[in-house]
Amino acid sequence: MTVSITGATGFIGRRLVQRLHADNHFVHVLTRTKSKAEEVFPVKDFPGIVIAEEPEWKDSIQGSNAVVNLAGLPVSTRWSPEIKKEIKKSRIRVTSKVVDLINSLPGARPTVLVSATAVGYYGTSETQVFVESSPSGNDYLAEVCREWEAAALKVNKDVRVALIRIGVVLGKDGGALARMIPLFMMFAGGPLGSGQQWFSWIHLDDIVNLIYEAILNPSYKGVINGTAPNPVRLSEMCNHLGNVMGRPSWLPVPDFAIKTILGEGASVVLEGQKVLPTRAKELGFQFRYPYVKDALKAILS
Ligand SMILES: NC(=O)c1ccc[n+]([C@@H]2O[C@H](COP(=O)([O-])OP(=O)(O)OC[C@H]3O[C@@H](n4cnc5c(N)ncnc54)[C@H](OP(=O)(O)O)[C@@H]3O)[C@@H](O)[C@H]2O)c1
Repeated sequence: MTVSITGATGFIGRRLVQRLHADNHFVHVLTRTKSKAEEVFPVKDFPGIVIAEEPEWKDSIQGSNAVVNLAGLPVSTRWSPEIKKEIKKSRIRVTSKVVDLINSLPGARPTVLVSATAVGYYGTSETQVFVESSPSGNDYLAEVCREWEAAALKVNKDVRVALIRIGVVLGKDGGALARMIPLFMMFAGGPLGSGQQWFSWIHLDDIVNLIYEAILNPSYKGVINGTAPNPVRLSEMCNHLGNVMGRPSWLPVPDFAIKTILGEGASVVLEGQKVLPTRAKELGFQFRYPYVKDALKAILS
């Protein structure tokens, strides 16, 4: 297979590229900055990889069997009105561009578009349980996800679309965990905020495997939640994190400290939602890390 990937240089994309490359698939990295992508994927380690800047995306997509769309300005940062606008605009711009390019191809076009979205689609709640058919929330991130998904769904009907509503991805060297650990070290590892918030997480290996399955398996279509089968309240997550890191989890980290360090984008961690991967389970997807304790152990030890 040949797979074109936007956002390939990011936290999830890098691991996906490694996985596809290890299985002898061809990868086209669709990036904004060739020089940065060439550093991430040196030719000596990734022989045959194609790195394409925007004017070359069309040619790359034309020669591909599948497109994976992961690009977007990071969400979990300090928010300003400009950044909030860019969080949404960047995702819709890249998604619409990819969709327009696929739709404009004469004849053979990729057969599948796997496009990222997020569990933020559902809004936040301490009591509700969300599955793929649940309605969307009414906060800012829910609006971003709705518009992002709508842009992907404009692809031609003969292209299979899988929309992966991704939870908080846990992995080494990046993502939420890399930002939570310094807070833990500073505050003796207590729960973040009240601790009652739901934390719908997924191990990096599992989200990469899910995307990989969605590329290959024609049954993967429509919305699929990309979260582990056992979401936890944040206090439980922090307990396990404290244990794995050898730091007792008893002193709560106050909201203001989290917001000062992580910015308003900390709402991704501070106000969660309980999301279940109903479709992935129906499809027979096997999670390597169903429990957060094992995921954290694997990542941090
Ligand atoms: N990680 C998570 O926990 C999580 C949770 C839910 C949803 N998601 C979604 O899944 C996707 C991948 O996540 P990730 O954590 O791998 O993302 P990431 O590490 O932040 O990387 C995303 C990539 O997007 C591109 N990008 C950055 N800013 C951009 C902008 N302003 N305009 C266009 N492209 C831009 C960059 O690629 P180039 O520089 O090569 O262009 C970057 O490497 C994202 O869309 C994210 O929102 C992630």
